[in-house]
Amino acid sequence: EEELQAWRDRIKRLLNEQNAVLVAHYYTDPLIQALAEETGGCVSDSLEMARFGAEHSADTLVVAGVKFMGETAKILTPNKRVLMPTLEATCSLDLGCPPDEFSEFCDQHSDRTVVVYANTSAAVKARADWVVTSSIALDVVDHLDAQGEKILWAPDKHLGGYVQRETGADVLLWDGSCIVHEEFKAKGVEDLKALYPDAVVLVHPESPAAVVALADVVGSTSQIINAAKTRPEKRFIVATDQGIFYKMQQECPDKELMVAPTAGAGATCRSCANCPWMAMNSLENLCAVLERGDNEIFVDAELGRKAMIPLQRMLDFRM
Ligand code: 13P
Ligand code: SF4
Repeated sequence: EEELQAWRDRIKRLLNEQNAVLVAHYYTDPLIQALAEETGGCVSDSLEMARFGAEHSADTLVVAGVKFMGETAKILTPNKRVLMPTLEATCSLDLGCPPDEFSEFCDQHSDRTVVVYANTSAAVKARADWVVTSSIALDVVDHLDAQGEKILWAPDKHLGGYVQRETGADVLLWDGSCIVHEEFKAKGVEDLKALYPDAVVLVHPESPAAVVALADVVGSTSQIINAAKTRPEKRFIVATDQGIFYKMQQECPDKELMVAPTAGAGATCRSCANCPWMAMNSLENLCAVLERGDNEIFVDAELGRKAMIPLQRMLDFRM
């Protein structure tokens, strides 16, 4: 505990000295989330992280999350210094969508409007007409569908499938998935629901369709937290990364939150409701990056200019 306090104090001092602000995702270590809150930074979903970083006056953004979040911050504010506690933290969606292959796929379907999830590289974003996060994917695709546009969606097939079913739009899907959400099992959720029939099921749309079908509420991390807060029920089954429980429990101290079951009983899975890449962020490497000023995020200027267009479209989007 004393050691933790020492890390926290050092980080606070460094943030101050460097006019830096901490931007953290809900899936990161609760110690990091708490520190971001305490120091006037931000803890949020990917859309709000992008907004916050773009609007904040700090010289340096320290992004605790995964690579695409740091890149997004750099693309939106190329003049700021963007640091990340680790450069190793990637995402299976980003990895599963190599820019060259993706660009070829787009060329083969040039009649379609290209909508990509924020969980992608700068090069993939640079090839897109729109970037969306799970908070606004439905609204954006609804809007494009109403204009008669056909969609090419990448990379998450589960989120894309959900958007397709909900909007009825013509959506061509790239075959990517999140290794964390893909592990949630409909059978497990049904069994838990049988034990607790009063429980509300909250599901992130990166989960498989069979799990989404059991949901009372489907939404981004911030929408899930908001549902737990505003629904009158007392018990919730939550299908997303366990990091979210820190904020959820803080927002609703009197409610019982249960993580949705992943692989079958006794089975092991490496990333059970816990993103291995998000987990690479720690107070220790956060402190080190501020001390050394390394792990700076750079995005090729030309690529950045191209990627900024669909990203800015996302930030400016209003229904
Ligand atoms: P949100 O945008 O809902 O926070 O989730 C994105 C995600 O999976 C980050 O890994
Ligand atoms: Fe990517 Fe899934 Fe981890 Fe989010 S939880 S960063 S989508 S692998």
